[in-house]
Amino acid sequence: MATLHVNGKRREHDAEADTPLLWVLREQLGLTGTKYGCGVAQCGACTVHIDGAPVRSCVMPCAAVQPEQKVVTIEGLSAKGDHPLQKAWAQLDVPQCGYCQSGMIMTAAALLKDKPRPTAAEIDEAIGNICRCGTYNRVRAGILQAAGVPATGIQVTHLAGEGSAA
Ligand code: FES
Ligand code: FES
Repeated sequence: MATLHVNGKRREHDAEADTPLLWVLREQLGLTGTKYGCGVAQCGACTVHIDGAPVRSCVMPCAAVQPEQKVVTIEGLSAKGDHPLQKAWAQLDVPQCGYCQSGMIMTAAALLKDKPRPTAAEIDEAIGNICRCGTYNRVRAGILQAAGVPATGIQVTHLAGEGSAA
């Protein structure tokens, strides 16, 4: 058995050493909020935090994560789903299908920890995640709202097609 520290708790698993962390989280620990997209570190759907840094868990062998390192998944980002990003996401209807969004939020949360008031350009540089629904404008607006930065000029297009300034 091996040990991981996930969302504040010690968790045991018996995965092979080269099993990606993503599959330990999803299949052994039941934390299915972290998604599989590409499996080759390109899309960011599998992003979790390890000691506060965003990591693409699909290419991280579970044995490379030390028991004392703190792994945080979307389930552990906030106690009640009330992280400022999660609130902004709900207020702005950021997700479309939602598949990429836990990875988006985890990447954004790491950014805000480093840069509490990022510019739009800094957001664009930090968020390399892929969204096949094209929610990039709303993701950017959500991060700015969570950071308390006025997002003047950013157009948020909702599913119904109407636009509103974020
Ligand atoms: S599933 Fe890990 S980056 Fe795409
Ligand atoms: S919301 Fe559908 S892939 Fe991003």
